[in-house]
Amino acid sequence: MFDIHCHILPCVDDGSGSMIDSVEMAELAVCSGTGGIIATPHCNVPGAFENFWSAEFDAKVKELNDILLKRNIPVTVYPGQEIFAYGDIIERIKNNELITLNNSGYLLVEFDFSVSERELFKYIQSITAEGYVPIVAHPERYFLFGEAPETVRGIRSAGALVQVNSSSIMGNFGYYPEHAASYFLANQLADFVASDAHSQYSRTPDLFQVHEIICENYSYEYADLLLDENPLKVINNKEIR
Ligand SMILES: [Fe+2]
Repeated sequence: MFDIHCHILPCVDDGSGSMIDSVEMAELAVCSGTGGIIATPHCNVPGAFENFWSAEFDAKVKELNDILLKRNIPVTVYPGQEIFAYGDIIERIKNNELITLNNSGYLLVEFDFSVSERELFKYIQSITAEGYVPIVAHPERYFLFGEAPETVRGIRSAGALVQVNSSSIMGNFGYYPEHAASYFLANQLADFVASDAHSQYSRTPDLFQVHEIICENYSYEYADLLLDENPLKVINNKEIR
């Protein structure tokens, strides 16, 4: 499996708090069957995590990979960001302040939980107009989709892909995210499931259980598509639709 949303980079956001935590998160991911992780620190969040990309981030990704190699932990960490929808994202990509997932054509974009449908479409259209593919991070957690999960059809028609959190499927965020996630999965409206892991203790990078749940409740083929095939296409910058 491949995890396209994980706060595994140490000491940059509210995810991993140290290199030891990062290594333990990687070990847990490997034990659950994950072979590649895109590090997606929060960024472009005004007044909180700006985290504009720099040589320091590249160095951290390299340092983590070097340690994993030295310890024989068979997983590769790729560069990425979870970009908060604020201001001119495209301009910041052009300025190399924001980056795509493993330098592909895919952007992981998160929105305020109370985002309006209008604001969501505005961002999706501005990103697709520049030839990038927006992957909307955990829409099942936004109030809009919690109340009306079928609204997700519109953003997919507008060119966005949908990433669901493993914790939402397992019910860890409460009724509405679980209900919306179930609706997306039952109607094949999700494109990825990722951990959105923040630590090795809670919201972990363990994807084994969610893979099992999707196999049991939907199909083995769909579990593979969400957790393996589509994420690998992002890493390799291959077309999904
Ligand atoms: Fe996240």
